[in-house]
Amino acid sequence: MRDFKEQLPADRQRQMTNIFVDHANHQQATKAIRRFFKPVEGGVPGRGNICALIGESRTGKTYGASEVLAEYKPEIGANGIKRSVLLVDSPIEGGARAVLDSIASGLGMQVSLRMTNSNLILAILRELQRSEVQFVIFDEAQELFPEKNRKVLSFSRKLLRKMLNLNQFNILCIGLPETYSIIAEDSQLIGRGGLPYKRLRPYDWTDPVDCQHFRVLCHKFDEEMPFELSDFASMDFSSRLFKATKGCIGILKVYMIAAGEIALAAGSDRLELCHFAEAYDDRKRPNEVFNPFRNDPSLS
Ligand SMILES: Nc1ncnc2c1ncn2[C@@H]1O[C@H](COP(=O)(O)OP(=O)(O)O)[C@@H](O)[C@H]1O
Ligand SMILES: [Mg+2]
Repeated sequence: MRDFKEQLPADRQRQMTNIFVDHANHQQATKAIRRFFKPVEGGVPGRGNICALIGESRTGKTYGASEVLAEYKPEIGANGIKRSVLLVDSPIEGGARAVLDSIASGLGMQVSLRMTNSNLILAILRELQRSEVQFVIFDEAQELFPEKNRKVLSFSRKLLRKMLNLNQFNILCIGLPETYSIIAEDSQLIGRGGLPYKRLRPYDWTDPVDCQHFRVLCHKFDEEMPFELSDFASMDFSSRLFKATKGCIGILKVYMIAAGEIALAAGSDRLELCHFAEAYDDRKRPNEVFNPFRNDPSLS
């Protein structure tokens, strides 16, 4: 019997939001990121190559990157801050300047508005060297390579080439599946090392191994949620969870938290199908009638 009654609702909500699950896809993502950074564990960082981590939205790409980033905190040395891993969140607007600003901000640089783009590029390249960066990650990299905006696309390609030419670090582009082919088109960019990549996919219910992994993931949520165990990993519960989330960790987490909040508000000790059904009703399209937590998921 697990007893959560003594805990404040706010603590139980926080516990739900902070749940971390070391599931199969997450292990694959972090393993790939670590390998793109250091091809040999405990060895030297790779240099001068571009690589990619691609996958549908909410499959845990950013989450994987932040786990690796957390292992390499910036250090204060005699000549200022050294950061071995630099994470850049690609801007969604603003063209070339916004791209440069996001890198400068990741490097902690103060940039005057009056500085020209070409001077800013030089300053960034200098700072990358000074702070001894060993690995650069661009998250949401599809924003760097917009197919419809040739100007930004061509600028980003040239900029990344310049950065790689320092021959000091590998660059990892994290993005949507289409990002791969846009980078791959640029033979100069991928020239040295090809374009090693990892494709992250939602779990696939029709694949027996994936199905097992998804059920393990459900079980881990069951263990971590601040409620009595609900047997999420059972064939019945997990197939409904799969139907609602399409095998995506991000969506699964949304439903866990939403159903958890409904159960908390109702003062229930256990998470039941009805809590998930309500959470699903809140989110389904206006014309959608099917609810995998109320109807038979095999009938949809
Ligand atoms: N291993 C994990 N354990 C718990 N929650 C996770 C895990 N991976 C991802 N999430 C959650 O899923 C959501 C989507 O993950 P995210 O990394 O942002 O996906 P992506 O970058 O692929 O779009 C986030 O809210 C994140 O907190
Ligand atoms: Mg992301």
